[in-house]
Amino acid sequence: MRDKIQKILSDIEVFNAETKDSLEKFRIEYLSKKGVIAGLFNDFKQVAPEMRKEMGIMLNDLKTRAQNIIDEQQKKFENTQTATESVDMTMPVESVSGTIHPLTIVRNEINTIFERLGFVISEGPEIEDDFHVFSALNFPPDHPARDMQDTFFVTKAPDVVLRTHTSSVQVRAMEKGKLPIRIIAPGRVFRNEAISARAHCIFHQIEGLYIDENVSFADLKQTLYHFVKEFFGEDTKVRFRPSYFPFTETSAEMDISCKICGGKGCNVCKHTGWVEILGCGICDPNILKSSGIDSEKYTGFAFGMGIERIAMLKYQINDLRLFFENDIRFLKQFEQA
Ligand code: PHE
Repeated sequence: MRDKIQKILSDIEVFNAETKDSLEKFRIEYLSKKGVIAGLFNDFKQVAPEMRKEMGIMLNDLKTRAQNIIDEQQKKFENTQTATESVDMTMPVESVSGTIHPLTIVRNEINTIFERLGFVISEGPEIEDDFHVFSALNFPPDHPARDMQDTFFVTKAPDVVLRTHTSSVQVRAMEKGKLPIRIIAPGRVFRNEAISARAHCIFHQIEGLYIDENVSFADLKQTLYHFVKEFFGEDTKVRFRPSYFPFTETSAEMDISCKICGGKGCNVCKHTGWVEILGCGICDPNILKSSGIDSEKYTGFAFGMGIERIAMLKYQINDLRLFFENDIRFLKQFEQA
């Protein structure tokens, strides 16, 4: 029996399966119930008692060795299988369905409302010069109003900055000198602010600018009333509060009745029932003049709002950071039909 076992051992040691089938044949030949090794276990009953211990160990080792050979060789077929059989490079890719980001949904909706009023979308660079972000908008160097917007500087001289608002696009539109102007400028803006539930150093704005003959504060109010009713619903209340911006005179901020508590008072509206959604005003004649526009003939209004704030109110989201974390569970909720 010892010779038999040794012979089988040396046979299986040199076995090299070339295909999966030959490996399976090997398994049946040696390890199946009617296989060679099972036959030896049968013969074991006839082994003389004094030889049993030694033969038993040899037999068990043989069986383990055969199983190991199968396991080792199996691996090479698993690998080649993925490489050659299961990946068919000619198959069309599985469809990957994404969702539209809530900020994009809201931006598109706002754009559409103003486009219906005749506003045209206008864009400008995110990396801007000091002139378009500040100086041309009546923020002189060292003027304290610059502190209203903490700026990221790219280079110091000449001053290159990340735009802190999309008002820079207004300046670029005025520079072109074609009147009347009726634009909205959606885009990404940057401010050096600590990230919290209510603020982020990157966010999005939509600004509007309308310059023509006889544009008045009444036009501004009607335009914004229309926007609010279209976007937030007919029952939304609106109020204006006096404010200050260097480039508008008169300046105001606009509040709407809180969409979260319906005006009763909650954390979001700080228990006032009102939430500020935008800044606006009549373009300061000096701004028009410095862009070469005849400020005797033309007047204009401008407004600017943060898209995140509007989206938070619309969808009742209480943490602005959710917009930037790309958590699929959050984004999936905005799947559109
Ligand atoms: N640019 C201002 C801001 O970012 C908003 C604004 C735009 C105010 C237009 C008035 C007119 O804070």
